Amino acid sequence: MTHIRCDLTPAWAALKVAFDAGTNRFDLRTAFAIDPGRFERFSQGAPHVFADLSKNLLDVETEVLLLDLARQCGVQEHRDAMFSGEAINTTEQRAVMHWLLRYPPQTPENAAQEATKNVAHELSVVHSTMGAMLAYAQTVRDDESITDVVNIGIGGSDLGPQMTVLALDAFSTTGKRFHFVSNVDGHELDATLRRLRPESTLFLIASKTFTTIETMTNAHSAKAWFAGQGRTDTARHFVALTTNVAAANAFGISTTFGFWDWVGGRYSVWSAIGLPLAIAIGAPGFRDFLAGAHAMDEHFRTTPLETNLPVRLGLLDVWYRNFHRFPSRSIAPYHSAMKRWPAYLQQLEMESNGKQVDASGNALPYATSPVLWGEPGTNGQHAFFQMLHQGADVVPVEFVAVKKARHALEGHQTLLLANVLAQAQALMVGQVDDGGHRNFPGNRPSTFLLLDELSPESLGALIALQEHRVFVSGSVWGINSFDQWGVELGKVLAKNVQTRLASGDAKGLDGSTAGLLARLRS
Ligand code: F6P
Repeated sequence: MTHIRCDLTPAWAALKVAFDAGTNRFDLRTAFAIDPGRFERFSQGAPHVFADLSKNLLDVETEVLLLDLARQCGVQEHRDAMFSGEAINTTEQRAVMHWLLRYPPQTPENAAQEATKNVAHELSVVHSTMGAMLAYAQTVRDDESITDVVNIGIGGSDLGPQMTVLALDAFSTTGKRFHFVSNVDGHELDATLRRLRPESTLFLIASKTFTTIETMTNAHSAKAWFAGQGRTDTARHFVALTTNVAAANAFGISTTFGFWDWVGGRYSVWSAIGLPLAIAIGAPGFRDFLAGAHAMDEHFRTTPLETNLPVRLGLLDVWYRNFHRFPSRSIAPYHSAMKRWPAYLQQLEMESNGKQVDASGNALPYATSPVLWGEPGTNGQHAFFQMLHQGADVVPVEFVAVKKARHALEGHQTLLLANVLAQAQALMVGQVDDGGHRNFPGNRPSTFLLLDELSPESLGALIALQEHRVFVSGSVWGINSFDQWGVELGKVLAKNVQTRLASGDAKGLDGSTAGLLARLRS
């Protein structure tokens, strides 16, 4: 499919003219004062998620132009291509079908559905694999001799399971402890192993490729530790989650759960990579998680652009990045269990859209992915919110708030909700102080995502929302959001440096690397 250069479209030109003529000076306080309907106009319901977009630097005219931009860039056609199983990951010639992992099974009623007519075979394989994975999760849950589950994986093979297991801790119905080892830094594995007994530990080796050096190094060390404790039953205590079953078998693992090359690493929590979550919350919980995501898929696939939440969010991202030129977005989940939410979104957005060429490899003259960063509230308030309120840069903030708590501690939830509302309010309204130090400029934008409760369904929907909004901005920018060539060079150089660290050979190295190498060897 051909991509249209977004900056050459009439909509982009119109946005630029409007921006220079006045929307660059848009003031939220005035906007609310003159439009009592602003909250309703810029609120958007979607499955399990309510979004208040009204505290963004956006008026109706701008949003109309942004929607024109989406149409002129072919976002709908691109979306439909993804949902019909076309190989839209063009640099790797792969389809992009993480959405199929959460598609309900074919029934006589939905068998003829348009949505899966090209991928009916894949769908049936997805469901048989999912059934086997969930049945295995149940046997682990029933096995009282296993007390600790260790996921060894990195990137998408770590962040998805880790973020979701933590976030849904209140739904965990197993007494087992979960550990996540990702870093090749031996301190991490060493500290984990010290707390384990081999006979009660299950290692899940999670790697799409089964070649990632960090994961393989940790997996081999875990296996050596296991054997070093006199254990021989590796087959019972090691499981692989991978598309490369042959490599897992060669490693000595016989229990494997597969997935497919059309599932990107950062989109893989819905596949066998989600096994830790399935063990934690059980098959019904995992199916609810998939159902929440599927509901958001259907919203994205079928809702008109004007009321399509991922579309509205993705276009807002383009507006901020390319017109306001905001370099980053702060992620502020007001739920302590969502502590890995910012890290999860960093991979999702920055590995997908942190690119400077279009899908055909041509250089792009405009900015793409912002930097994402953040911490759960209220902790962030006592660290970097100073800069958000009074710093020299404007950083749009994306709050997530959850209405109902799952604890009974008096007063906490009201205080938490009061804080998230107050922070969004303070960013917008500001405060005038002639003395300077207590002056808050205000007019600082934020998006407010609200869940009724943090549950498997709502978390599934929230993740799928983020996947699709990244798709929308990537699609407008005309980039391939589904490859990650930017991680390759460092991997290649690390191999070379590893040999040099052993030999001391610094021939041909730049002065800095040579100097550091010498110091490290001295
Ligand atoms: O190097 C980047 C990356 O390929 C990510 O995209 C991926 O999630 C991670 O490494 C782990 O890859 P794998 O699951 O193949 O070990």
